[in-house]
Amino acid sequence: MADPSAGSSSFWTQANALLRKNLTYQKRNIKENIRLISFPFFLCLLLVLLQALINQQLDKPSNNCGCQCIDTAGDGQCNKVCGLEYSDIDQAATCPIPNPPGFPPLLQIPSPEYRAVRTDFVPFTDLPDESCRSSGSCPATFLFTGNNQSLGQILAGSMIPSSLNWNASNAAESLAINVDGSDTYTQTSNFLDSAFFSGDPILNVRSQCSSNSTISVSFLVNSVPVLGEVNCVQGLHLWRNSSSVVNDELYKGYRKGNSEEKINEITAAYDFLNSNENSFNVSIWYNSTYKNDSGQAPIALVRVPRSVNLASNAYLQFLRGPGTNILFESVKEMPKPGTKLRLDLSSLLGTLFFTWVILQLFPVILTSLVYEKEQRLRIMMKMHGLGDGPYWMISYAYFLSISLIYMLCFVIFGSLIGLNFFRMNDYSIQFVFYFIYVNLQISLAFLAAAMFSKVKTSAVVGYIFVFGSGLLGGFLFQFFVQDTSFPRAWIIVMELYPGFSLYRGLYEFSQASFTGNSLGTHGMRWGDLSNSVNGMKEVLIIMVVEWLVVIFVAYYIDQVVSSGSGKSPLFFLQKFQKKPPSLRNPSLQRQGSKVFVQMEKPDVSQETEKVEQLLLESNSSSAIIVDNLKKVYPGRDGNPAKFAVKGLSLAVTEGECFGMLGPNGAGKTSFISMMIGLTKPTSGTAYVQGMNIRTQMDGIYTSMGVCPQHDLLWETLTGREHLLFYGRLKNLKGSALTQAVEESLKSVNLFNGGVGDKKAGKYSGGMKRRLSVAISLIGDPKVVYMDEPSTGLDPASRSNLWNVVKRAKQNRAIILTTHSMEEAEVLCDRLGIFVDGSLQCIGNPKELKARYGGSYVFTMTTSSDHEQDVDNLVRHLSPNANKIYHISGTQKFELPKHDVRIADVFQAVENAKSRFTVFAWGLADTTLEDVFIKVARGAQAFNVLS
Ligand SMILES: *[C@@H]1O[C@H](CO)[C@@H](O)[C@H](O)[C@H]1NC(C)=O
Ligand SMILES: *[C@@H]1O[C@H](CO)[C@@H](O)[C@H](O)[C@H]1NC(C)=O
Ligand SMILES: *[C@@H]1O[C@H](CO)[C@@H](O)[C@H](O)[C@H]1NC(C)=O
Ligand SMILES: *[C@@H]1O[C@H](CO)[C@@H](O)[C@H](O)[C@H]1NC(C)=O
Ligand SMILES: *[C@@H]1O[C@H](CO)[C@@H](O)[C@H](O)[C@H]1NC(C)=O
Repeated sequence: MADPSAGSSSFWTQANALLRKNLTYQKRNIKENIRLISFPFFLCLLLVLLQALINQQLDKPSNNCGCQCIDTAGDGQCNKVCGLEYSDIDQAATCPIPNPPGFPPLLQIPSPEYRAVRTDFVPFTDLPDESCRSSGSCPATFLFTGNNQSLGQILAGSMIPSSLNWNASNAAESLAINVDGSDTYTQTSNFLDSAFFSGDPILNVRSQCSSNSTISVSFLVNSVPVLGEVNCVQGLHLWRNSSSVVNDELYKGYRKGNSEEKINEITAAYDFLNSNENSFNVSIWYNSTYKNDSGQAPIALVRVPRSVNLASNAYLQFLRGPGTNILFESVKEMPKPGTKLRLDLSSLLGTLFFTWVILQLFPVILTSLVYEKEQRLRIMMKMHGLGDGPYWMISYAYFLSISLIYMLCFVIFGSLIGLNFFRMNDYSIQFVFYFIYVNLQISLAFLAAAMFSKVKTSAVVGYIFVFGSGLLGGFLFQFFVQDTSFPRAWIIVMELYPGFSLYRGLYEFSQASFTGNSLGTHGMRWGDLSNSVNGMKEVLIIMVVEWLVVIFVAYYIDQVVSSGSGKSPLFFLQKFQKKPPSLRNPSLQRQGSKVFVQMEKPDVSQETEKVEQLLLESNSSSAIIVDNLKKVYPGRDGNPAKFAVKGLSLAVTEGECFGMLGPNGAGKTSFISMMIGLTKPTSGTAYVQGMNIRTQMDGIYTSMGVCPQHDLLWETLTGREHLLFYGRLKNLKGSALTQAVEESLKSVNLFNGGVGDKKAGKYSGGMKRRLSVAISLIGDPKVVYMDEPSTGLDPASRSNLWNVVKRAKQNRAIILTTHSMEEAEVLCDRLGIFVDGSLQCIGNPKELKARYGGSYVFTMTTSSDHEQDVDNLVRHLSPNANKIYHISGTQKFELPKHDVRIADVFQAVENAKSRFTVFAWGLADTTLEDVFIKVARGAQAFNVLS
């Protein structure tokens, strides 16, 4: 068995060649690259612009701590002073509060129209009658329960005072001693309870209200003057048997929807549990759903402490008598610095935008992989000796570096323009995350590339993946992540989808930077990964595992499906199987290859015998031995199976050019496809340099050159770059390489005028053709296949090309298909005429002409009156003459060679000229074309008959 690696270029040579080609390709692609890189820049700029717009909106005076122009010095000069006291409620939130004011704590009391009354859905008769609602005089109801009812009754009774105890000169303290509340809603920023400046009266809770129950008060809260009224509201305390009864009553009182009659709100409820003289154990119900007008902030807990104070005060009085009191004079907020309203857009919107930015690389990689597949460039490279290892390594490294450069630009740019998303999170975490993700993405692209054959479909699917993943992530997946009740295991399952794991990672970054920004701390640090709420750790693990799995699967599928090497799905087990059969004992595996020798084609059967003979020899000089090769395309859609090649045997030695002639559809291209490994033979096989095309295609590729029927070229690379690349693949280096490329360019007439340095996409059809031929010959391959090499060439370049091929065939075997008889005659040492999937005849051109020609063609043109004379003349020369062509005075006859002598013909024409006018005449030997037409017609007629 021949060593496939002998004489072939090393892994690193191939890698080097591919890398250089890719770099040149990239250089050509600069516009595309700029567009690619500018996409994240554009998105970042958009974010920054939006951010600036939002900031400008937030920085309006109405959103900042209020200021006024006040004559503080009393000299008529206006001084600008800012602060809490000059702000409205919206502005107040941003003011600094270094010394927060204390203010009297209030109870939350339901509005009069919602207070609890007797209704049919609450089974208690101790509630007031509904009539109080119309007068607005309904009492505020408190509910009580506990294990010891007598104790509970005592406590409840002392909670609600019976009279107002007001000292007008000390209003603040009076508010603390009495039980006061409000039915206004609280605000988010409670530097002062909104009840004091809402204009509504303060509500004083007493067990009984006298008729004139309104008093006016005025006091200062931290130098803010508060003016107002205090109204009386009756407090009603009712005992219930258990806490579940209380719960039920509270629940039924809920303001649900708008049905007014179903509302029965209770002020507060107390459960004294197992309290006794020695211990006080209480649980308090309060309503947390009071909202301000914009409906966003739940009740500030500022209205709750008073409720607690009431209960503890009552217990203290139970223990120590009515004289004792816990005075709850004021509550205060924590001091705070002045702030600005801020909204970090990059953290909010960033996740979606950045997901798109990073995913965007996927279709780019995918289409470039599929492009090489669609244009068959991958197989072309493979046929010229590029192994899968170097291809994978370099392509992978190439895409990885593009991705990394892209990400680097993205992160640097984002950081420079000040997006917190990048600046606040630890850069090393970001690096690790992006690095792992781009690797996963590249391997995914390799995997996906195996499933597409068209660049367009792959691009469409790629971009659907990009935008779909982003949108699904932002509008579906994110809600699951935020919903803490959603099972974490399912989140992990969803993260197995790479788009979501990317989204999750970016989401974690944005959350970290958002909270870091609003708390004034930092974003994500390595330490945060151990936090169970932070999903980054799982994402990283998932991505690493997926990366390894995907890259393995992608390589496997590539090997089995698309590389053209025709490996079996279990190729990696081959090492353990028996060695593939080699030339040494080929007879063993020629199962059932009965050779049908048609007796009327002695030359073909002779060739078959020669092949049989050669196969038995161990050391054959033949470069190519084709052994009964067959190809059948299975029938589709009811059509019968098509026999493209019906058992072809052929041997081509080194230094020989074998020409294959045949009408279109005869199976020539099917034959070449099998020989270069594009399709597998149905049965039979062929040996190239002793290597079997079924099993050792990889080895064959290293000593093979192909000029395919359709030019497989990179549009953006120049002719010289193509040759440099394939030359390097064929192990040419340094000056040998440059020289080979120069010579090659010159030989195919692409050297002059700098044509070799123009992009192949700009070449004319003929120039592409010549470049393809040059590629197939560079690097001295031992076997070359040329599929119609001279199609579309002008006569000058064609003869030029012929010289190239003639020179090239000195030390190699060439199989050439062509439609040009002239070409076949000039170039080929032997010819085979291939019709309907089998060879009809084989031999060198002279032999063929002698065998199938055997006649002269005699042409004569006269006026139409003398046609009969010409006919007579010919019949006289040879009674077996055959008229093959006749049109207005011009006639063509076939004269069997053994009937006529050329001298007789000349004599006869001289005689004729004296009798009538001969415009023109000619005598020609049979051409190859005549042979071809004859053989092809004969074979087809035979096939029609059979
Ligand atoms: C209930 O409380 C009262 C007043 O403290 C006390 O006298 C009585 O013993 C308590 N009853 C029970 C069953 O503990
Ligand atoms: C009212 O408050 C003032 C100031 O604290 C105090 O001097 C006065 O004695 C109080 N009056 C009553 C009746 O408690
Ligand atoms: C509540 O307790 C009272 C007095 O002990 C009793 O009459 C009434 O049936 C109880 N109600 C319920 C619903 O248990
Ligand atoms: C609590 O307050 C909200 C808002 O005012 C109200 O809709 C709801 O009915 C109240 N709930 C109870 C149990 O009173
Ligand atoms: C307070 O009451 C709750 C509910 O009955 C009970 O679980 C808890 O042990 C009590 N605490 C004390 C200190 O008695």
